[in-house]
Amino acid sequence: MPSKRLNTFHVLFISLAVVAVGYVIRTPWLPIRRETKTSMGYLEDSLMNFTELTGKYGYISEEHHVITDDGYILTMFRIAKAKNCHKRKRSPPVLLMHGLLQSSDSWIDSGPNAGLAYLISDACYDLWLGNVRGNYYSRGHVHLNPDKDAEYWNFYIEEIGTYDVPAMIDYVLDYTGFKKLNYIGFSQGTGTFLVMCSERPEYCEKAQLLISLAPASRQFHTSSQIYRMLTQMFDRMESALSIYGVHEVFSKGEFSQEFVGFFCHLSVATQRLCETFLNLFEQVDSSHSGSITNQTTTVLFGHFPAGTSLHNMAWYGQSMTATRFRKFNHGKKKNLVVYGSEQPAAYNLSAMTVPVLCIYGNNDGLVDVKDVEWLMSKLPNVLESVKVEDPLWTHLDMTYSQYTVYTIFPKISEYLLKYTSA
Ligand SMILES: *[C@@H]1O[C@H](CO)[C@@H](O)[C@H](O)[C@H]1NC(C)=O
Ligand SMILES: *[C@@H]1O[C@H](CO)[C@@H](O)[C@H](O)[C@H]1NC(C)=O
Ligand SMILES: *[C@@H]1O[C@H](CO)[C@@H](O)[C@H](O)[C@H]1NC(C)=O
Repeated sequence: MPSKRLNTFHVLFISLAVVAVGYVIRTPWLPIRRETKTSMGYLEDSLMNFTELTGKYGYISEEHHVITDDGYILTMFRIAKAKNCHKRKRSPPVLLMHGLLQSSDSWIDSGPNAGLAYLISDACYDLWLGNVRGNYYSRGHVHLNPDKDAEYWNFYIEEIGTYDVPAMIDYVLDYTGFKKLNYIGFSQGTGTFLVMCSERPEYCEKAQLLISLAPASRQFHTSSQIYRMLTQMFDRMESALSIYGVHEVFSKGEFSQEFVGFFCHLSVATQRLCETFLNLFEQVDSSHSGSITNQTTTVLFGHFPAGTSLHNMAWYGQSMTATRFRKFNHGKKKNLVVYGSEQPAAYNLSAMTVPVLCIYGNNDGLVDVKDVEWLMSKLPNVLESVKVEDPLWTHLDMTYSQYTVYTIFPKISEYLLKYTSA
């Protein structure tokens, strides 16, 4: 039935366009104030920030600020006291890094029985959570104003990996007095670690273990057509949008985010829309129903999407057709100037010498199994690469599933324990 498929495609495309436009249009009456939302019956958890939300569940968190070499001010959180840990291990700190369009809150949105931040700190590790430039916790700079200066938004994973990740690692090591830490990166959180090892190999040695959850490098086989179209649209339209002053996209408080957040809370019926929106991104064939509870879905839309630069989204668009994990493609002429070759330079994956545990899902619409396997074949020191047993495990399940404690945490825990002696 080609005509039916065409219709579905059109509806999806139009919805996508509306949503995308909503994310780049600034509306003066947004974001809606928290008091207003509370009076409208929004779930409390969706309105809370990291320290408030962890505090509510009996965990004490600290807020830390880190300044990168290029002046970005980042916020990190540390769980200083976990509810179910009575004596912390004398072990290297663990640094947990979120994915594209997320923040540290993604590790707690699924609640104390499933959020990896809770599980890892309950296992008595000294847990730190990063936030990369451009998300709502890390929207500061020593002299640039993100609301006025386009220059603030001139970054993609290159700068995140070259400046943000090293700055956060240094901060944690200085603060705790350890020489090395264990790093856990989800999706872009691994991609930026790989960038760091390629561009600043001396930092690579500051991690003794990389736990890589659904690592995003090249996205050649990504199956979600929606995700492809959206990022490629940003790539094609980058210069046009920049002329209109669009440099930041998918920030918290933008029209579409408020709209979806509102629908999540309105009624059980409209909650479906909220779920649909989540599935729209990933667009997997067989949905993993129930894995991400509707409570989690409602809470996460208070924190997701967390914002990034148009330039970063454009790089993701390029990565959909790249056969290597490579830098931004500026076009032949500018590439010659920037890289000394017509093609963009590739990141040096051989420089990623840290031992890796990789965990990935079979039903991942954003980071395809084939791309994960390609990446693992390029890394020199892979300890183990594990496909989650549940065949329906998706990309977003890594941070938001209610089943993490059975599906991915045991492996994470096994390796953290192995790499505990320092
Ligand atoms: C989180 O909320 C608390 C209480 O409202 C506030 O004091 C704190 O500054 C907030 N932290 C961040 C990073 O927004
Ligand atoms: C959430 O999901 C459950 C099970 O799928 C369902 O019974 C319930 O009505 C949903 N909505 C709310 C608001 O809990
Ligand atoms: C990539 O990194 C490896 C290991 O550090 C190094 O031997 C090699 O020279 C690097 N390759 C390039 C092209 O820089």
